[in-house]
Amino acid sequence: MQSKTSTDGRWWDWFEETLRTARDLPAIQSLRYQWLGKRGQLTVAMKELAQLPAEQRRLRGQQLNQLRQRMVEALDIRQREIDIETEAALLNGERLDMTMPGRPPRVGLLHPLTRARRRIEDVLLRMGFSLHYGPQVESEWYNFEALNIPAGHPARDMQDSFFVDVPNMVLRTHTSPVQIRAMQQHQGRLPVKVLAPGVVYRRDDDATHTPMFQQVEGLVIDHGIGLADLKGTLTTMVREVLGERVETRFRSSYFPFTEPSVEMDVTCAACGGVGCRTCKATGWVEILGSGMVHPVVLANGGYDASVVSGFAFGLGIERLAMRLFGLDDLRLLYQNDLQFLQQFIRWEGGRQA
Ligand code: PHE
Repeated sequence: MQSKTSTDGRWWDWFEETLRTARDLPAIQSLRYQWLGKRGQLTVAMKELAQLPAEQRRLRGQQLNQLRQRMVEALDIRQREIDIETEAALLNGERLDMTMPGRPPRVGLLHPLTRARRRIEDVLLRMGFSLHYGPQVESEWYNFEALNIPAGHPARDMQDSFFVDVPNMVLRTHTSPVQIRAMQQHQGRLPVKVLAPGVVYRRDDDATHTPMFQQVEGLVIDHGIGLADLKGTLTTMVREVLGERVETRFRSSYFPFTEPSVEMDVTCAACGGVGCRTCKATGWVEILGSGMVHPVVLANGGYDASVVSGFAFGLGIERLAMRLFGLDDLRLLYQNDLQFLQQFIRWEGGRQA
């Protein structure tokens, strides 16, 4: 090789060395500028060709062109390599590692109160009841008068009411007004066999009372309905919901809208009937109020007590949920604490789901 070639050789070695250590595209780019850019080493050398005598210029020109050609090719090759490496690194980083532990999705669940309510609904719907709903802001007539609770009647004290800014309207204190509404809708047809779940309001607030709570009302009217039908229906319902082993008893009671009136007790879940603090040492806890529908109530719903008879009951869902889920404070059910609620994901009220 000619004398000038040794310069080219050194240039090439230098170039190649830098190229080999170029790890990314910016490094390639700056190498390209350094040699082939406007002021690049090789560009400048080519510009200087003009100063050479004509006979040398041709040969030198060819040499520099060759060198330029090799550099361009080498740069292109390295650039492609880097492209491939970058892509591979990217894919590598994205690789699915099947041994990684999964991120469990948050599983939603029905609220314990909803589940308690549905347990009751399920049983009674199978017995032929159908669902009815009434308004939460109710007229005093439906909430009281129609149910044989006249203004000034002492029974109104049993239910400390929330009154609203509209005259003669209250937040319903029980689901019993739906009895009247359902009867009216049936327009005398038989049988009436309705179930009315819903929220109700009373001015109460402690470990076993919240100002808003839920009830399920039941009403059956037909020819020849008696207390035995009431007992049979409610005993079956309670056994289905709370289990075969639970024992029940009926105590006479008083409600203005039923005559006779009976309250139903079940064996205390906390002590199994032996007697403890929860049941005030009696072994029993009250679960619902019920009775034979009062003739005045039947009449207000458009039915004639000399022809038909019926029974009604009203049951608090919260109490039942507390029993099903083993809770001692009702307010837990209304705090929307996910930690608390999440315990019940696999807990289907007394049995694993
Ligand atoms: N409405 C009554 C209460 O809230 C319960 C009840 C309903 C009693 C139907 C008898 C018949 O306490």
